[in-house]
Amino acid sequence: MIFKGFSNINDLGKYVAEEFKNVINSKDVPVIGLATGSSPESTYANLIELYKNKQVSFKNTITYNLDEYLNLKEKYNYNSYVNFMNETLFNHIDINKKNTHFPCKYTDVVDLERKYDEYDKQILESRGLDILILGIGNNGHIGFNEPGSPLDSKTRIVELDESTRIANSRFFDNEVSNVPTHAVSMGLDTIMKAKKIILVVKGNAKKEVYEKLKQAKEFDINLPCSCLANHIDTTIVYLKDEMQD
Ligand code: GLP
Repeated sequence: MIFKGFSNINDLGKYVAEEFKNVINSKDVPVIGLATGSSPESTYANLIELYKNKQVSFKNTITYNLDEYLNLKEKYNYNSYVNFMNETLFNHIDINKKNTHFPCKYTDVVDLERKYDEYDKQILESRGLDILILGIGNNGHIGFNEPGSPLDSKTRIVELDESTRIANSRFFDNEVSNVPTHAVSMGLDTIMKAKKIILVVKGNAKKEVYEKLKQAKEFDINLPCSCLANHIDTTIVYLKDEMQD
């Protein structure tokens, strides 16, 4: 893992967007992995700028998002990750929406018997992720791989941690019971197969988990992000003042 600190969020977003641009421009059919949340927002804003300035085109790009809620209450459909991606990125670039993928539909009911690992096969058939952006949860989750997620986990239904539901309740009228209980997430195995990973650490609340990640030498099942210690090409980007680093 390489750590790179930035003085402001726009410089951070610019850096990550450039990395995506370079990968996209070097492939005939780029395959990219995308995250939601506030962490990737500055990257997406900068990618839109690069597109407007004709420095990158997404015409042939295939995207796979990390995760999606299950059984989202109708009132909160706007919180679906597909909606987030459309509004934050896809509606502003020349991507073909048919090439954008999510691991489930946010309207799917929770059926614990149902498998979602077709998504992994689909990613493999697209030749795997060339680059993947990740955010991180306060508890060290990546995607929605909560503590306890095994290293060989595939795309599957996951139960959200109480702490994750509390953190995300800010988008659900500050009421935890409105936050879905389950989601479908790419597994750690799927994530580790990405050729290049950039993890964005953003928010003062992430300081503790950032310190733990810095110390990580091997995978600790209680700290899902620690799997990245064994990934061959991972960069962790953060804001210097937030991490006091
Ligand atoms: C959610 C998402 C994660 C994201 C995390 C951090 O729970 N499933 O993929 O990384 O929250 O969100 P934020 O970037 O808003 O801090």
